[in-house]
Amino acid sequence: MSNDPYALATEAATALKSATGVDSFDVALVMGSGWVPAADAIGETISEIPVTDLPGFAPPAVAGHAGRVRAVLTGSGKVALIFLGRTHLYEGRGVDPVVHGVRTAIKAGAGTIVLTNAAGGLRPETQEVGEAVLISDHINLTGANPITGATFVDLTDVYTPRLRDLVREIEPSMAEGVYVAFRGPTYETPAEVRMCRILGGDMVGMSTALEAVAAREGGADVLGISLVTNPGAGLVGEPLNHEEVLEVGRATAARMGGLLAEVVGKL
Ligand code: 6GU
Repeated sequence: MSNDPYALATEAATALKSATGVDSFDVALVMGSGWVPAADAIGETISEIPVTDLPGFAPPAVAGHAGRVRAVLTGSGKVALIFLGRTHLYEGRGVDPVVHGVRTAIKAGAGTIVLTNAAGGLRPETQEVGEAVLISDHINLTGANPITGATFVDLTDVYTPRLRDLVREIEPSMAEGVYVAFRGPTYETPAEVRMCRILGGDMVGMSTALEAVAAREGGADVLGISLVTNPGAGLVGEPLNHEEVLEVGRATAARMGGLLAEVVGKL
């Protein structure tokens, strides 16, 4: 196994293609907490393997993060790669394992990366629990960056505007928002939540931003969608828990899966 994260992704892509029997993928989707049940609506499973069968993937650390990767044939004839769960920065393995799936998918042909997550809502005045919000931009407060060295990647359109337009053709009323990424694993304090609102954030979470950066570095288009599973701490007074996040995911799986199937069909 290579020490270089980009070479390791090339190795993983080669292993992925032979393990799934698929030569090239059109699109990759990363299903975050609460989104895994939605994967079944995207298409017919060709094959599915544990990610740990591939070089460079860490075993899952959190319940509800399944750690499997599935090759799917969609109704529109596209071949999708679906990661059922992801590695988070808070697992403590550093930033490379966090973006390894995205890098591997790009090396395996995917030109579009769809990143989903469960997020805390920072705007309970306008947001509802169970609502999907298009990510228009992010604020990376993780303290990490997947790129090292003097590689100055432009992030003006990290979340591809054309892909957001495409989603709004399907769901014209879907809101857009700025995703604020923290390292976790703690949820934010009420003061941090108030800070994020002042900074212009609309959702808060522990993923997605680093993967989006890695995808842009790799030249892929990015679509990001947050499922608002709860309001941020202190906004409505109730403590947060991971089980509630998963429950909202189960309750919205059919709707979110249907949306993703339509999106992939229109790519
Ligand atoms: Cl409130 N914060 C973070 N960081 N992640 C979340 C969340 C909140 N709710 C769901 N995921």
